[in-house]
Amino acid sequence: MEHHINAGIAGTGMYIPEKLLTNADLEKMVDTSDEWITTRVGIRERHLAAPEETSSSMGSKAARMALAQACVSPAEVDLIIMATITPDVPWPASACFIQRELGASQAACFDIAAACTGFIYGLSLAQGFISTGMYKTVLVVAAETLSRITDWEDRNTAVLFGDAAGAAVLRPVAAPKGILATYLGADGSKGDLLELPAGGSRLPASHETVSARQHYIRMKGNEVFKFAARAMANSNKEALQRAGHKVEELDLLIPHQANMRIIEAAARLSNLPMEKVFLNIDRYGNTSAATTAVALCEALQQQRLKPDSLCLLVAFGGGFTWGSCLIRI
Ligand code: ACO
Repeated sequence: MEHHINAGIAGTGMYIPEKLLTNADLEKMVDTSDEWITTRVGIRERHLAAPEETSSSMGSKAARMALAQACVSPAEVDLIIMATITPDVPWPASACFIQRELGASQAACFDIAAACTGFIYGLSLAQGFISTGMYKTVLVVAAETLSRITDWEDRNTAVLFGDAAGAAVLRPVAAPKGILATYLGADGSKGDLLELPAGGSRLPASHETVSARQHYIRMKGNEVFKFAARAMANSNKEALQRAGHKVEELDLLIPHQANMRIIEAAARLSNLPMEKVFLNIDRYGNTSAATTAVALCEALQQQRLKPDSLCLLVAFGGGFTWGSCLIRI
């Protein structure tokens, strides 16, 4: 057992773009109120990328910070996994742009599109590659520029999203440290409840798709809401069970930051007090795959996670996708 190779977090990084958009700013853009947004969702402000910034440019900054913290040079990176639903372009993969930006010339590169669950899917892949011995150093980046696919005239979605990037460097560690268990799930039959309708092979970009505002996020918020808390609570249970741990042993839950009420419901269903739940939704909003990556970085910075802490990441998103990742720091 002592010789089993786990993937451990060797460093984390994050990047938050400078421009701030507060609830007061949104009150001037759509028919909403600070009161509605804070009580129904829990967001006070979010940050937006500058015009020249992209998911890969923000992701590269987060990646540099993670590499520096791990004392790993870009040349040592074997694989770059980029989790995003807002790639710089449909293809080539944004992971390739990050490779170019970092000069990580030895790295294999690919993107994954698991929406808000992307970082957890990425961590799970990294664990798989590292534990089989195929790769030693894996960089997982989760970066989103949701402001580019947000309909700023639709109050149902405009108040929810923000831009951000997070990253983690994973390297072999001896058990019992590192990723102890992951659980991934999906339900493709519910894909149309949360989607970007046009711009792919189903509805290629045309004057019509642009006028019909089909290049923006469409979400049936209420139906997503109902499903999300239960899926996250179930994911918590699965990962803990697979590793043989009890919920009481957890030091911190890092949930996807989409809605304060979803997080509270998921914590309640998992019998976890809110003191053990990490929150930053008030400052950044929902940044899709980036929320859990940024939160992991902040939890370490704030020393809410210390060596040997037991931490569970959990998320839910478009696809639908969901998943969890249990880590001994
Ligand atoms: N300001 C004021 N009123 C609003 C706003 C707003 N910004 N948005 C909606 N409302 C109104 C609605 O029009 C509705 O009014 P009506 O009753 O007169 O029709 C009322 O508020 C209630 O609307 P609901 O949609 O039922 O509100 P709900 O409590 O469900 O909250 C929300 C909406 C915040 C979107 C919630 O459903 C939610 O968080 N859903 C899940 C989001 C999520 O987890 N997404 C997954 C990840 S995202 C990704 O993968 C990219």
